[in-house]
Amino acid sequence: MSFSILGTGKAVPDYILTNDELSTMVETNDEWIKTRTGIEERRVCRNETLTELTVRAAKNALEDAGVAPSQLDLIICSTMRGENITPSPACMIQKEIGADCPAFDVNAACSGFIYALDVADGYFVRKKVRYVLIVSMDNLSNIIDWKDRSTCVLFGDGGAAAVLGEGEDLLSVNLTASGNDEVLRIPHGTNSSPFYEHEEEKAVLHMAGSEVYKFAVNAMSSGIKKAVADAGLTEADVDHVIPHQANIRIINASAKNLGIDRSRFFCNVSHYGNTSSGSVPLALDEANRSGVLKKGDIIAMCAFGAGLTTGSCVIRWSKDSSVQAE
Ligand code: ACO
Repeated sequence: MSFSILGTGKAVPDYILTNDELSTMVETNDEWIKTRTGIEERRVCRNETLTELTVRAAKNALEDAGVAPSQLDLIICSTMRGENITPSPACMIQKEIGADCPAFDVNAACSGFIYALDVADGYFVRKKVRYVLIVSMDNLSNIIDWKDRSTCVLFGDGGAAAVLGEGEDLLSVNLTASGNDEVLRIPHGTNSSPFYEHEEEKAVLHMAGSEVYKFAVNAMSSGIKKAVADAGLTEADVDHVIPHQANIRIINASAKNLGIDRSRFFCNVSHYGNTSSGSVPLALDEANRSGVLKKGDIIAMCAFGAGLTTGSCVIRWSKDSSVQAE
């Protein structure tokens, strides 16, 4: 016995940062960003905190699932950085929604949601849980170098949550990590020890874009291929691919490599940019609520990120539509 996804819910900040506004901050332009990345706008936190967004996403997912906070047996939050080093964002979600269950974080950068699904699967297999809440959220705007045009145009804030219940819908899941801090890294940037002798690096995202690009296309293509084969299926059986929303060119190249029609890839990168671990569940929630997902559909999900990590999985969608009747 593993799990089924019972409900999803998203939360994004209100503020929309357009390519045109970014062009007033760094030397860039709408045309470059759109053609090189597919991104038109992204959301950025002004008043919202990470905790507020995670709680909003959690409540939306619980409502969609028809599950009460008191029924939860486990909360997993995938994020790179909460407001506090401790307590964890997962514990803050628990407090704010009024749940009474274990809560902890998973940090696998952009692959966090799929890592969290795999962790949750273990709890279901061991029959330790009936309902699990996963919240995947990052606010990279506070660790971006806003003077670096090669990175600041790519990212946005936001994420989503999913409520899992007992079921048989996880058909395969595959995680990888390759211990690389050279092409993608965000240092902590704080150390209060008077004894520490290393020089602190600035706490902003450092990325070798073209190296990550090559890794990403390969990770997405091989990750989906393996997840589909492990599920005993072929690419022709896949109704939807929910890919990490980092760059539309990465998605297009992966679709071509896999021979899966591009129309089967759900994309919302144009509105949100790369929201890190929030990216895959944010797309999943929008696919769920827009009526794209039909009961019985086969969905492949794939993400890649700092670490370098990857996560891919295949699930069956057995939920009734979340689209509200008019
Ligand atoms: N506006 C205008 N010009 C720019 C910008 C910008 N915002 N950024 C870079 N340029 C310039 C460069 O300076 C370069 O100019 P030059 O030729 O005179 O040197 C030119 O545009 C081309 O730069 P490239 O880096 O070759 O552009 P490329 O087509 O490779 O696109 C990009 C760069 C978008 C970063 C791409 O490499 C990419 O998407 N990489 C993957 C990023 C990614 O997926 N990251 C995931 C991180 S996940 C996580 O865990 C946080």
